[in-house]
Amino acid sequence: DKGPYPYYMLKEIDEQPNVMRKLASLYTEESGKPNVDSQLINAMKEADRLYIVGAGTSYHAGLVGKKLFEKLAHVPTEVHIASEFAYDNPLLSKKPFFIFLSQSGETADSREVLVNVNANNYESLTITNVENSTLFREATYTMLLHAGPEISVASTKAYTAQIGVEAILAKALGEAKEQTIAEEFDIRQQLGLVATGMQAIIDEKDVIDDLAKKYFVPANRAFYIGRGIDQTVSLESALKLKEISYVQAEGFASGELKHGTIALIEEGTPVVGIITQKRTANLTRSNLQETESRGAATFTIVRKGLAEEDDTLIIPDVNELITPLLSVVPAQLIAYYTSLNKGLDVDRPRNLAKSVTVE
Ligand code: F6R
Repeated sequence: DKGPYPYYMLKEIDEQPNVMRKLASLYTEESGKPNVDSQLINAMKEADRLYIVGAGTSYHAGLVGKKLFEKLAHVPTEVHIASEFAYDNPLLSKKPFFIFLSQSGETADSREVLVNVNANNYESLTITNVENSTLFREATYTMLLHAGPEISVASTKAYTAQIGVEAILAKALGEAKEQTIAEEFDIRQQLGLVATGMQAIIDEKDVIDDLAKKYFVPANRAFYIGRGIDQTVSLESALKLKEISYVQAEGFASGELKHGTIALIEEGTPVVGIITQKRTANLTRSNLQETESRGAATFTIVRKGLAEEDDTLIIPDVNELITPLLSVVPAQLIAYYTSLNKGLDVDRPRNLAKSVTVE
């Protein structure tokens, strides 16, 4: 039931603060310690490399996961597009551990990989929103997203829930491996900050509606740019815009744009800079400037601690490792309002199904 919401997507965006609180209370203790299956952590600890597998938005959540597992747990992590992994037979390490990310737990491309993983007796974890789904049943270990049903075709709360679970898991694994950075990372407190921060962004949705009307409704092409973890969010931001508003959008590593793609910038092309990382903030700012001097209509999504006077959307501060949980929310809302203002069916975009059960 949509209740007072015109579309499920807006309802699901709105539910995100509560999902973050729920993950904190289910998967961490009051002391801040992660509350995760110790057998799972032991299995992951034995692995010399993690392989994250997913499709679409879940793949994008995996890209964030790689940063979390490498930084907090110091374990090399690869992220693979399920449909590529299934037939490409990537070279595996001596002791791999597989993590499947899937909202539905039914994505055929991911299932195909898991069948092979099981045939080779490798251990795996499925992180999914649907209990008893195929990927849930067939993996060695499971963790649920507890995000509640996601009805809108465009995935929103599943993406943030996947990142939330990955952060808890990376913290737990990092602690098991006695990594100081993991011991000092208070995920429970951070998820609380994220929940409040998400709510603050959602409360500004009218501002985002105006930005969508001004920049994206008239556009037929757009870019999101960022570096590092912000680059991964730029990919997800562009996917959201493409699938429900039909604006051709690309997410880009901001330093890579000038190596070719900047040729596409025309008068008024929207370019959004995502800036949440101290080390790269000024670099992305100058890349944004390069597009502006070629006519782009630029604006920024910036973490408060890095904000400057003419920034457009300022998002609250959280630990730099989990900024995607906040920086994606304005992008979800931009996609939503662009679609809405174009009079499109936000929840049921053309050519798409909620769960892709063919390879
Ligand atoms: C995008 C979207 C898709 C799914 C993808 C994987 O908004 O929803 O890209 O993320 O089809 O689906 P799951 O996560 O169910 O495996």
